[in-house]
Amino acid sequence: MNVDGKPYRTIWLEDLPAEGVPVVRIINQLALPFRFEILDLRTLEDIRRAIKDMYVRGAGLIGAAAGYGMYLAAREAGDRDFDRDMERAATILKDTRPTASNLAWAVDRVLAAAGVGAGGDLSRGTGAAEERRAAARREAQAIADGDAEFCRRIGLHGLPLIQALAEKKRGPVNILTHCNAGWLAFVDYGSALAPVYAAHDRGIPLHVWVDETRPRNQGAGLTAWELGRHGVSHDLIPDNAGGHLALRGMVDMVITGADRVSRRGDAANKIGTYLKALAARENGVPFYVALPSSTFDFSIRDGAAEIPIEERNPDEVRFVTGLAESGDLQRVRICPETTPARNWGFDVTPARYITALITDRGICGASEGEILGLYPEHKV
Ligand code: MRU
Repeated sequence: MNVDGKPYRTIWLEDLPAEGVPVVRIINQLALPFRFEILDLRTLEDIRRAIKDMYVRGAGLIGAAAGYGMYLAAREAGDRDFDRDMERAATILKDTRPTASNLAWAVDRVLAAAGVGAGGDLSRGTGAAEERRAAARREAQAIADGDAEFCRRIGLHGLPLIQALAEKKRGPVNILTHCNAGWLAFVDYGSALAPVYAAHDRGIPLHVWVDETRPRNQGAGLTAWELGRHGVSHDLIPDNAGGHLALRGMVDMVITGADRVSRRGDAANKIGTYLKALAARENGVPFYVALPSSTFDFSIRDGAAEIPIEERNPDEVRFVTGLAESGDLQRVRICPETTPARNWGFDVTPARYITALITDRGICGASEGEILGLYPEHKV
């Protein structure tokens, strides 16, 4: 994505010759949409905090961040205790956010590349440790590059869906999306928004309804920001407006992202997604879920029963943060001081409500048979 004419990824590794060390650079998502700010992360602890406190967020991006975090952990790991230190780092990172599969997937990839748990020659001697650090770096970079490529392909596979609706309708296609499954949720391009950008860039007329996405407002703060930067027509709407719009014929399709998808196609995504799927079904609106291969969890079949749902700090529900007229960021309480709250970060939309999955390998129905048609290596 370009920001003020300059191409950016949401995360990248840079060697600082003056300091002789690599740093991981991120776009600080806590500052958006009010300030565009780059932060430098230098340690495993920096990465842990960035993921936990959501300086970076979104399934693909936290996977890429965790990959780089494992590389920084490899730099910090002792030569003799390399395996033990890396396993500890893996646990620390996996404990940050439980729902998105990309995080554990990336951590395990770096562990495997660095030969952790493999025993043998890889784990002996200083030379071996340096080799393993280099392998961790290569793998972390491959994860980030792979995430961008996954999303570019999702865009190409999803494009014909929008194109077909535009031709049939002979007018702008109204697309509803929830949360932020755009460029900011990945290394580049996005998942749900990748087809939107691909269609917009080809001149296909479209308009996006952007759910504000309480409680953290990723729709209002992030999706609205990136669509605006890219010149895509959109309106921010209250979270509860989608049903009304669908009933009035003002939604042609829904495209959301996903944080984890089971082998039969149940999809965990930001809390509120399930209600949009119900409204879509009731009104005959196609409901698509876009995801990279790294978001499938083939070890799980029944998503509603088995996908772990992150429960976050209730204060995210009790307070909102925004820009005051004074120009200062302010956090204000929106309920009585003693009101208790609950804050589930995600819900699961059962496969039966999903018209199709848009993946980097192509489009398939949300069923075990169709998913395994695209992913035959996961047949048992
Ligand atoms: O809590 P977040 O912001 O990390 O939530 C993840 C998401 O961005 C959404 O659920 C998104 O639609 C999934 S696609 C990365």
